[in-house]
Amino acid sequence: MEDIFEIFGGKPLRGSVRVGGAKNAALPMMICSLLTTQPCKLRNVPHLLDVDILMKLLGQLGGESRFSQPGVLDIVIPSLRSYEASYSLVKSLRASFWVLAPLLARGGSARVAMPGGDLIGARPVDIHLEALQEMGAEIRLRNGVVIAEAPSRLKGAELTFRFPSVGATHQILMAAAATDGKTVIRNAAREPEVIAVGTLLSQMGAEIEGLGTSEILIRGNDALKGFDSAVIGDRIEAASYLLAAVAATGSVSVAGISQDYFGEFSTILEHLGADVSWKRSADPVLADTVSLTMSGRPAPVKVLTGPFPLFATDIQAPLLAALTLCKGESSISETVYEGRFGHVSELSRLGAKISLAGSVATIQGVSHLTGAVVEARDIRAGAAMVVAGLAAKGRTVIEEGQHLRRGYDDLERKIRELGGRIVSSSEEMEELSLIGC
Ligand code: UD1
Repeated sequence: MEDIFEIFGGKPLRGSVRVGGAKNAALPMMICSLLTTQPCKLRNVPHLLDVDILMKLLGQLGGESRFSQPGVLDIVIPSLRSYEASYSLVKSLRASFWVLAPLLARGGSARVAMPGGDLIGARPVDIHLEALQEMGAEIRLRNGVVIAEAPSRLKGAELTFRFPSVGATHQILMAAAATDGKTVIRNAAREPEVIAVGTLLSQMGAEIEGLGTSEILIRGNDALKGFDSAVIGDRIEAASYLLAAVAATGSVSVAGISQDYFGEFSTILEHLGADVSWKRSADPVLADTVSLTMSGRPAPVKVLTGPFPLFATDIQAPLLAALTLCKGESSISETVYEGRFGHVSELSRLGAKISLAGSVATIQGVSHLTGAVVEARDIRAGAAMVVAGLAAKGRTVIEEGQHLRRGYDDLERKIRELGGRIVSSSEEMEELSLIGC
């Protein structure tokens, strides 16, 4: 089905919303269930297409997973039925590739299709594979499939990543947690979602130090236990709604997100001229509430994307959408993905003035945007269209809106809670191809 969203914008936003569990934490946390025979329970799981795809893959591998209540996912994988993740699933959901390490750690063998590149970049997986080889895995590539064996089981290793890859850190955390011995990851990713996965693996019985820093030490355990845990709030979803208010002006509150997850984005919001305040909560699931008031056009900023705590590449597209209205000239350098500017041409259709030179977008702010028909090229490009559509005068139609369903649970209700006007419809389409993060 193709989803089409219609937004009637140009009005200030007013309202409050609660974000769901983070897609990028829920997926690797679900994959951790492959490391144990015991029942696992995950709470605050968002209702997203990507979660459905991963449930299907876990089912093919021998697992049973079902929502026992809204947002509460029960998974049990008493034994592995298969060691294989096919290209059709890995192509639909890149995070499926992360089953490689758990399959190898639990069963000593895995066959997982290489994810390949997509519209936003080439996206190699060399860091994952080299690290697993250093842990003793024998890896071959045949017809686009990674064939990995660890006949005498994986062993602890001292690893230094050439880039703090989020996915490679998840994979190696999972492999090391299930492996006897000590593993050190240097230049590890520091994202909140990595901390969430490491914390979950500690609950399962691994000893892990240094989460949230560049050096993580893991002492594994070959009898990991089941878990009952909750997914952290989605910082990208929260940032998208806040940026909608930056673009459209108004006053909004977003609950369910910890201030610690924002990194440099908090400073960027201030530089844009937003009045931001936080209400802290001691409950990790209810989490903090951020309130933002914006009057007038955003101030111009110069930003670079980078690994956490630097500005997240997943927020680049919605920030760029808000900056189309800045008073002056802004620039965004994309350092993580070489091709992540698919939203630029669509924003131009609304009247934005943006020039691209390599990985740098320069934005000349305009006084207003005007509604038009645009396309959501991937999840976050879709979020950029929602941000711009809410600010643009008149009617914006977002085609290919199904990409938004991968990262934004109950988008229409939440936009309405924020005072935006949005309706959606679905049309039959031939094939669903999923792109981006
Ligand atoms: C995860 C997120 C994605 C986010 C990204 C960066 C999920 C499901 N996805 O993706 O939303 O945009 O982190 O914050 O959590 N790289 C290599 N070799 C490797 C691995 C990565 O060169 O072996 C490169 C990639 O091509 C990319 C960069 O490193 O340019 C970042 O990739 P990585 O951090 O691994 O992102 P993902 O885990 O795929």
